[in-house]
Amino acid sequence: ATIGTERITRGTGGETHQGAGGDVPILTTQQGAPVADDQNSLKAGARGPVLLEDFHFREKIFHFDHERIPERVVHARGYGAHGFFELTDSLSDVTRADVLQRPGERVPAFVRFSTVAGSKGSFDLARDVRGFAVKLYTKEGNWDIVGNNIPVFFIQDAIKFPDVIHSVKPEPDRDFPQAQSAHDNFWDFISLSPESVNMALWVMSDRALPRSFRFMEGFGVHTFRLVNAAGRSTFVKFHWKPKMGLQSVVWNEAVKINGADPDFHRRDLWDAIGAGSFPEWELGVQLFDDDFADSFDFDVLDPTKLIPEELVPVRRVGRLVLDRVVDNFFAETEQVAFCTQNIVPGVDFTNDPLLQGRNFSYLDTQVKRLGGPNFTHIPINAPKCPFHHFQQDGHMAMHNPKGRANYEPNSWGGAQGGPREDAARGFTSFPAHEDGVKTRVRSELFADHYSQARQFYLSQTATEQVHIQQAFTFELSKVETLAIRQRMVGHLVHVDLELATAVAEGLGLDGLPEAPAPARPVLDGLPPSPALSILKN
Ligand code: HEM
Repeated sequence: ATIGTERITRGTGGETHQGAGGDVPILTTQQGAPVADDQNSLKAGARGPVLLEDFHFREKIFHFDHERIPERVVHARGYGAHGFFELTDSLSDVTRADVLQRPGERVPAFVRFSTVAGSKGSFDLARDVRGFAVKLYTKEGNWDIVGNNIPVFFIQDAIKFPDVIHSVKPEPDRDFPQAQSAHDNFWDFISLSPESVNMALWVMSDRALPRSFRFMEGFGVHTFRLVNAAGRSTFVKFHWKPKMGLQSVVWNEAVKINGADPDFHRRDLWDAIGAGSFPEWELGVQLFDDDFADSFDFDVLDPTKLIPEELVPVRRVGRLVLDRVVDNFFAETEQVAFCTQNIVPGVDFTNDPLLQGRNFSYLDTQVKRLGGPNFTHIPINAPKCPFHHFQQDGHMAMHNPKGRANYEPNSWGGAQGGPREDAARGFTSFPAHEDGVKTRVRSELFADHYSQARQFYLSQTATEQVHIQQAFTFELSKVETLAIRQRMVGHLVHVDLELATAVAEGLGLDGLPEAPAPARPVLDGLPPSPALSILKN
């Protein structure tokens, strides 16, 4: 029998054998040996024991046994696509980064969107932050902007990251899969960490239920530096602005969609790109100097705060277009490794303590997740520019140094000597002056935890405010411990009295709980937040 041009025969047990020939390649082992029969193991007699010498059978089962790798410790569920970044406005005044010099020039890009808390098999429309991780394959190496769809973060210091993540993941005794934040541990942690209140407001807002990845903003969150050819540093916050604007679903829709189609977001991205409707974002930068940083009510190193776009407008300088789905989910989306440390000459870090912890964490976790130090040899992670170094060996080494030299300085000139450093073109750190006593004390400027939460709440439309009230009420109604509910509503008193009252009533609390004394006075009269300015646009 044939299907198309394929030759089909039946084995002695009626099993299907699809034969090679014509355009159909022959099945081989990993070693390339052609396979005659992929349906039956080698036995001593038709009813006899399976023979150890069946190398095809053993290789096939061995490889299957090793298919799983650890899922990401956070952001385990994600979906990626290829595309390009095109510069539209030169930033040569503020950075020497090659990718930001010449308008019209494109570099390849890979983007992975994700939820944070759920496992790899969780559903897409959890109430959660979304990861928005971008890898730009520039001529000066890979530059990763590993951001989220919310511009602020839960904590100010990376030392708290294991705590906030443990609290949001399944509780260790019962391990109920929690793709959303509705349980005691999470709200216990948040209510004991006033620095988290601002982000909690964002997570209870419609931002945490995006209609699709295509309708989300992205934020680099931290303050980074750009450094120009003259060595001058400018502070920068990175933004991705969706060309199609922002859209969310409401909670009732999210619950139904998760039941009917847990793959809602990945399907949307796959279908859109397949239909030629390529999602697009503008790269925006907020640029500011030391004088602005010094005059700002908050510390620009505090990742729980944003810089209002009314104070520092977003300059749009490029476009990111996703126009190609992956060939293989595992090879590309699962094995891609983003890292805040992957920067290029002309970009630099600041002393944001969350950023500095991240710089350690990603490489460390990826060595484990991807099986050793050579995960940069995987095509999705390899630079697309020439690269030469003396690192060698380790598991799966595929780019060992060629020839004799694997160290420098060395006496072997020309190609024999291998690559050499270049002080002019190479990465140099901005020579920030650092001087201080060793301490674990946090800056006083990090201590106002409520003003920006209030600003965000007040920037929302009346409908959006009701959604926030409903989300807090629903989530806290799942918390069994009364004291945690009360403590959380106590924080909301500082954010907005109407909000606190609505949630207290929704929870049936006996009046408004006492609010904790704020470490710094809560500010009124701040400019409206980015959410409002986007709606105005
Ligand atoms: C993964 C964003 C804070 C540790 C991710 C991913 C994103 C992200 C988007 C998914 C990357 C991917 O798609 O593969 C952020 C943002 C943060 C933040 C925006 C705060 C502003 C932190 C902190 C730590 C951390 C403070 C640790 C100190 C990790 C780890 C992974 C991860 C270990 C898994 C990486 C992997 O297995 O490849 N983060 N994160 N993150 N993040 Fe963060």
